[in-house]
Amino acid sequence: MFVHVLGSGAGGGFPQWNCNCANCKGVREGTIKTSPRTQSSIAVSANGTDWILFNTSPDIKKQLDDFPALQPAREVRDTAITAIVITDAQIDHVTGILTLREHNKPWEVYTTKAVYEDLTTGFPVFNILGHFRGINHHEIATDHSSFTIPTAEGLVFTAVPLKSEAPPYSPHRHNTVPGDNVGIKIEDTRTGKNLFYAPGLGVAEPHVLEYMENADTVLVDGTVWTDDEMSHEGISDKRAQEMGHLDQSSEGGIMSLLNAMEKPRKILIHINNTNPILNEESEQRQILNKAGIEVAYDGMDIEL
Ligand code: MLT
Ligand code: MN
Ligand code: ZN
Repeated sequence: MFVHVLGSGAGGGFPQWNCNCANCKGVREGTIKTSPRTQSSIAVSANGTDWILFNTSPDIKKQLDDFPALQPAREVRDTAITAIVITDAQIDHVTGILTLREHNKPWEVYTTKAVYEDLTTGFPVFNILGHFRGINHHEIATDHSSFTIPTAEGLVFTAVPLKSEAPPYSPHRHNTVPGDNVGIKIEDTRTGKNLFYAPGLGVAEPHVLEYMENADTVLVDGTVWTDDEMSHEGISDKRAQEMGHLDQSSEGGIMSLLNAMEKPRKILIHINNTNPILNEESEQRQILNKAGIEVAYDGMDIEL
């Protein structure tokens, strides 16, 4: 299968429009070694022609402009995107679907029941799309049963419920339910290889670690280096944990979990603009390099 990273940044992207943290200032002024990042999304294809979007970022217009494979121009109005899977109802993973409203037929959209509820109540983007061509909704189960998508022949998908926070506008905000946030295992039955994609991982429960250990490539939550880093520069009083993200550097953090795994290629995605690993010359980035952990960038291609 082919995996293309459309956006590797967290909510806000990099640089964030109103942010003057060391990283955002540095990338804007060209004084640090790094590259800008749009908000989190990947595209996956079994045959290199038909693509499935995983999450639809507010930056989707730029992402499509930068990846011509998604605009094959076979007809006067055309796209190579054949279906959309949404893993949670967060703004950075959903808003781009409104940009895709000019589609000439209903979008085939796959979400859990919990995410469907959010996106028809607290953040009713699916209702809004109903005034255009609408969506055909396919419910993703949260019992580890697998599903297939007709335009991705050879691929088998499994949703893995993750402990994280439901968004502020969710009816489940203070009462999270399984399916508020899922990781996805994507297996290619032709090569026998599988990817585990989880851009928002709050707690590494045993079942999640098992999926990660058995993956050929993990593409996981790289939001923050330290849990309190957003408060360092007076940016926010929120801890990453409250937002459903596990840090990289603490004992029990993402890096220590990945270090204990032999099999997978390890890649971080959904990197927040405050994270020092964005600076390729930072001490923190050297620590990741030594551990063999990669940092996703926009336009990154992975084949497995
Ligand atoms: C998150 O990943 O925690 C959210 O995307 C935060 C946000 O609303 O930007
Ligand atoms: Mn996010
Ligand atoms: Zn910033």
